[in-house]
Amino acid sequence: MKSFDKIIVANWKMQLSLDKAKEEAKEMKKLLSKAKIGEDTVAIVCPDFLAMTEVAKIFKGSDIILGAQDTYPGDTGAHTGEVSLSNLKSLGCQYIIIGHSERRAMGESDDSINQKVKAVLEHDMVPIICVGETYDERKEEKTNFVVIHQVYEALKDVKLKEGQQIMLAYEPVWVIGSGQVIDANEADRMSQIVRQSYIDAMEGQNLEALSILYGGSVTPETVNRFTSLEKIKGVLVGGASLDGESFIEIVKKA
Ligand code: PGA
Repeated sequence: MKSFDKIIVANWKMQLSLDKAKEEAKEMKKLLSKAKIGEDTVAIVCPDFLAMTEVAKIFKGSDIILGAQDTYPGDTGAHTGEVSLSNLKSLGCQYIIIGHSERRAMGESDDSINQKVKAVLEHDMVPIICVGETYDERKEEKTNFVVIHQVYEALKDVKLKEGQQIMLAYEPVWVIGSGQVIDANEADRMSQIVRQSYIDAMEGQNLEALSILYGGSVTPETVNRFTSLEKIKGVLVGGASLDGESFIEIVKKA
């Protein structure tokens, strides 16, 4: 799969009605077709599962790539309420967010995240693994430990095949949806911790497969603060991705 130097991911969470999702998807497609973005930039949109089929039809033939917010760690079968990777793939979905802090808060374990990472790679798709500390963990000076631990657990026994990619999104949980952003120095410091954790967890292999993203209240005004950092290739955007115009502004300014 092609790799990109600037990666902008929209996480729509459970925020949009089906009609609104279709409307914003059409707006994004229209605005992106007019925007002059380089070949090395990619816009990925992760709608909720219900909106996926309709949004996939809208994005067909555009430069926007479909992603998912989660997955079952495997294929079709007797798993009530789950969604399979092969069905996601058949819709054109190439990227899967795994271990978002909102799912970790609902009880998703490190082990489940690890299984999903392996399953996504088995299907030749790209996992976007979210890591980050809570406010209490930061106050207790556990930030580095938490992030290193989450990267290690997510990548346990992961073996990459030639050409496969992994994205690690550093998202300080206390910043998500808060309207605050951390300063560039801290984002830079954390990206180095994420990178070093990846190198240690993968025993030095496949460093070229890694892209580091930043997430947490990113807007068109702040995106460049993060994407201008040497080790950060892109952003994961929640609130500011719900409006087509604002999301495409982020893509243009990244
Ligand atoms: P936010 O969400 O941009 O609304 O802070 C980011 C995320 O949850 O990934």
